[in-house]
Amino acid sequence: MRARIAGTGSYVPKRVLSNADLERMVATSDAWIVERTGIRERRIAAPGEACSDLGTAAAERALEAAGVAAADVDMVLVATCTGDYPLPSTACLVQHRLGAARAAACDLSAACCGFIYALAVGEAYVKTGARHVLVIGAEVMSLLTDWTDRNTCVLFGDGAGAVVLSPADDGRGILSAHLHSDGSLWDLICVPGGGSRMPPSEKMLAEGLQYLKMKGNETFKVAVKTLEEGAREALSANNLSVEDLALYVPHQANIRIIKAVANRLGLPMEKVVLNLDRYGNTSAASIPLALDEAVRAGRVKPGDALLMEAFGAGLTWASAVIRW
Ligand code: UT7
Repeated sequence: MRARIAGTGSYVPKRVLSNADLERMVATSDAWIVERTGIRERRIAAPGEACSDLGTAAAERALEAAGVAAADVDMVLVATCTGDYPLPSTACLVQHRLGAARAAACDLSAACCGFIYALAVGEAYVKTGARHVLVIGAEVMSLLTDWTDRNTCVLFGDGAGAVVLSPADDGRGILSAHLHSDGSLWDLICVPGGGSRMPPSEKMLAEGLQYLKMKGNETFKVAVKTLEEGAREALSANNLSVEDLALYVPHQANIRIIKAVANRLGLPMEKVVLNLDRYGNTSAASIPLALDEAVRAGRVKPGDALLMEAFGAGLTWASAVIRW
């Protein structure tokens, strides 16, 4: 018995922030952003629009696509690093809004890998008897964005994606999940302030330490290396070759990272799902958002083999192979 993806959904806030808008905020240009990242625009949550609002909307669409009632969901997992509150979990807020009465609910923090990590947890729960598990990636990255720092503010966006996991015994489903971390690289991408290491204070806020800091160059190199290794590990564990893959759904961080990995693997770009031009890097929402768009565009066919892969703060990296 496996856990299969029975339905997908996504949601992005209405407000579009274009590269032209960013040109008016920091010393950057549309040409630089497009050439170095592939991003043209991103969505930004409205004032008062929080992580659970995005996650609930995506989850509703996934439940509808799966034909599953919220009352039949046994677990709600929200992968996020930008939840509504430090506590309670955003998953509990989503659980309540959906009416997934008495379902287990918790958040999972693995930054951009959060969705794949949560998928693996959800898969295990389905295999031990759950009826359905909702796995959501939802982020309001604009919360962590320093709009005066051109090194990071051009990269991120807000959004959410969700899948419903259900039991299947017909060969479909999650074939493998590989999860990894290397905490020695914790400071490659980090929000220094606001947690127990450096509680909120006037000084912390004045220094902008509540915002995401990133060593972009170093992260880039580690990303290409771990994604290539991760893809090879996932394919070999399933006795699959690159040619066997129908689609590659990578974390949408930077087009140059994705192209470098595809090139190293010998994977044609036609097989790569891309939407970072419209949404930028939405962290844990990135993969389920891209997957939902591919599914709704009819790009995913029954029997297809899909490889999803992410890397991110931690450092974490993770892959999942799905037989659709
Ligand atoms: O979810 C995981 C998240 N992280 C990532 O995926 C990030 C991985 N890293 C990257 O995507 C890239 O490293 C960046 C897009 C962040 C930066 O691209 P890069 O090609 O590595 O540029 P760089 O950091 O080497 O900077 C080159 C130049 C610098 O100027 P100098 O020092 O050469 O004069 C930067 O100051 O580009 C400058 N620069 C910019 N210029 C215009 C940096 N950001 C900008 C900008 N607009 N927004």
